[in-house]
Order: sequence, then C-alpha cells, then structure tokens
Amino acid sequence: MRSISAWGLGLALAACGARDEPPPRPLPELVRAVDLDPDPRVVALELTARVAQVEWLPGRPSEAWTYDGTVPGPLVDAAVGDTLVVRFHNALPAPTTLHWHGVRVPADMDGTEAMQHPVPPGGSFEYRFVLKDAGLYWFHPHVRSDEQVERGLYGVLRVGDPAGPALGRERVVVLDDVLLDGDGALVDPARLSHMEARTGREGNRVLANGAPNAFLEVTPGERVRLRLVNAAVARSFQLTLGGGRPLVLVGVDGGLLEAPRVLERLLLAPGQRADVLVDVDGAPGDAWTLSAEPSARGHHAGDDEAEAVLRLRLVEGQGTRAPLPGRLRTIAPLPAPDTLRRFVLGERMGMMSGPVFTLNGEAGPDVPPVATRVGAAEEWEYVNETTLDHPMHLHGYFFQVWDAAEATWERAWRDTVNVPAGARLRLRVHFDERPGRWMQHCHILTHAELGMVQAVDVAPE
Ligand code: C2O
Ligand code: CU
Repeated sequence: MRSISAWGLGLALAACGARDEPPPRPLPELVRAVDLDPDPRVVALELTARVAQVEWLPGRPSEAWTYDGTVPGPLVDAAVGDTLVVRFHNALPAPTTLHWHGVRVPADMDGTEAMQHPVPPGGSFEYRFVLKDAGLYWFHPHVRSDEQVERGLYGVLRVGDPAGPALGRERVVVLDDVLLDGDGALVDPARLSHMEARTGREGNRVLANGAPNAFLEVTPGERVRLRLVNAAVARSFQLTLGGGRPLVLVGVDGGLLEAPRVLERLLLAPGQRADVLVDVDGAPGDAWTLSAEPSARGHHAGDDEAEAVLRLRLVEGQGTRAPLPGRLRTIAPLPAPDTLRRFVLGERMGMMSGPVFTLNGEAGPDVPPVATRVGAAEEWEYVNETTLDHPMHLHGYFFQVWDAAEATWERAWRDTVNVPAGARLRLRVHFDERPGRWMQHCHILTHAELGMVQAVDVAPE
C-alpha cells in the first residue's frame, strides 16, 4: 500500500510542481575512488554495488542503489594509457553489470548482456582494460538500466592527459533528476505509467552531484572548467548561463574538440558529456545561474519554467586565466564510407504493453543485428519518424556527426547524439579494431527497454 500512496503523491508533486525549495548548499565533491595498486600505470579499485540511504533532500533519507554508498558513485581518476582494474562486487538484490559508457574497451569488458553473464547478487567480476583516450566517461549498469540507473547507479571515470592544455580550475558536475515523493523518497522506478514509459521518466528535482539547489564559489577573473555528464534516464538539459553569458565548449564525449566553440545554449542529452569553460568577470556578491530551459523533446511543449542546475557565486578574490588556445588538438576526418546504412526510428502502441519503440520497424530484441567487420568505414543516417527526440548511443566506437550548419563533419568525437523528433541526422564511424558484439540504443533508457536497441556485430577482418 505504501508504494501506491507514495506513487500517487509523487505524481501529484510532479504535476503541480508544488514543493519547498531545499536550502542552497555547496556543490558536493565527488568521493574519489582509492587506487590500491602502487604501479603508477595501473589504477586498481574495489567497487561494490549496494543499497544505501542517501539524502537528496536534507534530513529526508531515501533508499537508493549505489556504488560504494553514494550517488553519484566514486570518481575514478586515471591517465591515458593506464590500465584500469575494477574488482566489482554485487551486493544488490538483483543481477547487474558495469558498462563503461564511451570507453573503447574490448567487447568482453563492455558490460552488456550480449557479452557477459550479469553478475548475480553476491557475485563478483573483474573488469580490466587499457584506457586509450583522454576524456570524461561514466559507468552504469546494462541490466534493466532504466530502473537501475534511476535508483542511483552511476559514477564518473575521468581519463586525464598530462600533455593536454591547461584550461582552468576543473569541477566534475553530474546532472540528474529524481522523482521524489512528499517524504523525499524516490518514487519506485519500476512502476511507470504508459505516459511515463513513452516520454521517459523526468523527476521533480534536478540534481548536480546529487544535490538540488547547489552552488559553486568562483572568483572574478578566473576561468572555471565544468565537466558535465548527463546521467538522467530521460531528461535533456538545455543549458544556458544567466544574463546571456556564453558557454565555451571545449570538449564532448570523446575528449577535446579541435577548436573551442562559443555557445549561447548547450543541449546535453542523456548519456552525453560536455567540457565547458566559463570566464568569470564581475563583482563579489554577483551570482550567475546555469539553468536548464525546458526542452520540449517533442512533448510537454514548454510551459515549465527553467530549472536552476548550478549557481556560480562570485566571492572575494582575484582569479587569473591564460589566453584560450585557438586549437586544442587535431581531429582527422574519418575515411570516406564504403557502406551506407539507414535507421528509421519509429514508435507504435502495443495492444497490452503500451508504447513500443522500433528500429527499422522491429523492436528489440527482435531487431536484426547490424553485421559489419573490422576495417569498415560507414555512414549511418537516422530518420526519426516519431514525435519524440532519441539520443542514440553507439557502444565501443566514437563517431563524427554531420554538422548541417557548417556543412562539414564535426571535428569532435561523440558516442551519443540527439536525433530530434522528425529529424534526420548523419554520422560516420570507422570500425577500426576490436571485433565483437556491440550495441546501439536510445539513451532514454525506457525507450531502449521498450525496443529501441540493436546489436552491432563487428566480425574480425
Ligand atoms: Cu550509457 Cu548502452 O549505455
Ligand atoms: Cu528514445
């Protein structure tokens, strides 16, 4: 009975937006994972998935599923070229895996059910691979990820490049949202209405590193580097900085861009990362708000208000910053494609089951796999015939996106790209190594569970 009344209350809160604002608090520091290996080129850690109490609202604990007891889980820091070893233990009441989102791992380390038996309750598994690319990645389960990520299972892997440019004081900021009931407890993510299943569940609290209403103190003159991850299961963050101040984008999923880009707004879809610089100028006492405008995503057409994600509070002090390099690195264009594929993203209403999402007319797990081979250079076109956005994610490889505005291939490496409702989008990918069974899916995780998922088989050369 309790879950039913909590469910109803959560819905009511979500619907009318009635809520008391929690007091502002400093942006929580992520807990650092402890490296247990003395070898400087090996980062080895123990990681346990377990149920724990967390406080999304101060003084009002909620049960969550966590890595090592916190949401977000620990921040894993390593350098490019390091070997990462994670001895993973499952103390949850359900099977689970670790998927290394965006990391170019060997296929048997990818954490999908296609490549690994899920780790049963009480079981363990050792993940081990070399970190080939600097960038910001994240890890999360790949078993019922719609529920498990929503319960709190996610953490960040930051792969640094000691030879990279110094770009300012850096903070990792994980964005999420949660649907909390009147007691501050998470509304059961296993119970979605057909409507919620269709649009993906959005919460009634927006979180930065697990905290609503967080702020970060900054000093005039400094340059702050925000390394953002969108770990929400459905919400896209359409980010703007107060007063029309620009956001300087220097990196995305797979590390730095070729050159900085000055943006008025930045869309961060589920699964994506962004590396953003903010040049702070102003007087102590000023506050700038990084907020998320309601992004329609093809539904609830924008009657909500912008949500504050993080406030930058200017405090006494004098920061400094070096001139921003005009070139951050070189990104070679991908080889011309030898294969073209088209993926039609569709939706239909199941008789009993509610919404079903499709790729080329079939719903996963019945979508025939993409069959390709090592060495193939491909161009993929997505045709979104639905009235919802779909942030499509490819495992194991980075891709480059056709930039319609510039009429050129974007000089950036991505693993997740938003395909807007009704739109077409093209990308290029080179399956240059690492044969195995990979996958692509929508990162609105209920959409993936409801069919928008496909295996990608890369045969050896
Ligand atoms: Cu971040 Cu297959 O997912
Ligand atoms: Cu989708």
